[in-house]
Amino acid sequence: MTSPAQTVMGLQESIEQRRAARAFKSDPIPEEILKEILRLGVRAPSGYNLQPWRFILVRQQENKYKLKACAFDQPQIGQAPVVLICCGYRDVAASEYIESVIQIGTDFSGLNDQYAGYVRSAIPSFFENHPSFSTLEAWTNRHTMIAVAHIMIVAKSFGVDSCPMEGFIASQVKEAFNIPQNVDVCCLLPIGYATEPLKDYGGRFPVEQVCFGESYGESL
Ligand SMILES: Cc1cc2nc3c(=O)[nH]c(=O)nc-3n(C[C@H](O)[C@H](O)[C@H](O)COP(=O)(O)O)c2cc1C
Repeated sequence: MTSPAQTVMGLQESIEQRRAARAFKSDPIPEEILKEILRLGVRAPSGYNLQPWRFILVRQQENKYKLKACAFDQPQIGQAPVVLICCGYRDVAASEYIESVIQIGTDFSGLNDQYAGYVRSAIPSFFENHPSFSTLEAWTNRHTMIAVAHIMIVAKSFGVDSCPMEGFIASQVKEAFNIPQNVDVCCLLPIGYATEPLKDYGGRFPVEQVCFGESYGESL
């Protein structure tokens, strides 16, 4: 029996210790830790539980170099043992996809016939009218980045570092990794063990500056 992956720090420390790592050691991530990071990462929430995130795990060095060339040669990509190409799938309003979401909800006893009937009509209408987003790319990014955030924090709790990256040319990544038209590339995420020292914490605006009370611009 393999021993289950053990975290090395709790939630608060994981959030405070996470840094965007700019350089990685070549040390591999133990397979059971990698699996657990992905399993917990995809526990992220999504609208109607549509789970549009898709991840390509790039581990072969030649493919990392190929990806690095699409990402302004940023060195993290060539160094990290695993690089996730974090994608978002657009065709979630297709009836077979909705049925697959209903099926999984049924399998986990989290969905009844009444709710299944509701989502069969609500999802297509939501995507037809899309009142809360202007483009499908905005919608796929909204969701995929929540899963990416989960992955980064979970990874840190296992002592694994990461670097979210938007510095890439999406069309080049799509072509190089056979990503179909109905899938967006939302970010790249090298993960592994950062070389010390991690870059210093750059600070955050105070909560009072970014959180408002009741209406935009009103102080808390
Ligand atoms: C969506 C997104 C895109 C980013 N793109 C890059 C990138 O292309 N290259 C890079 O080195 N860092 C990138 N970063 C990392 C940020 O520079 C970093 O998160 C920020 O400076 C705050 O530092 P911290 O994450 O260590 O607290 C990105 C971060 C986010 C969230």
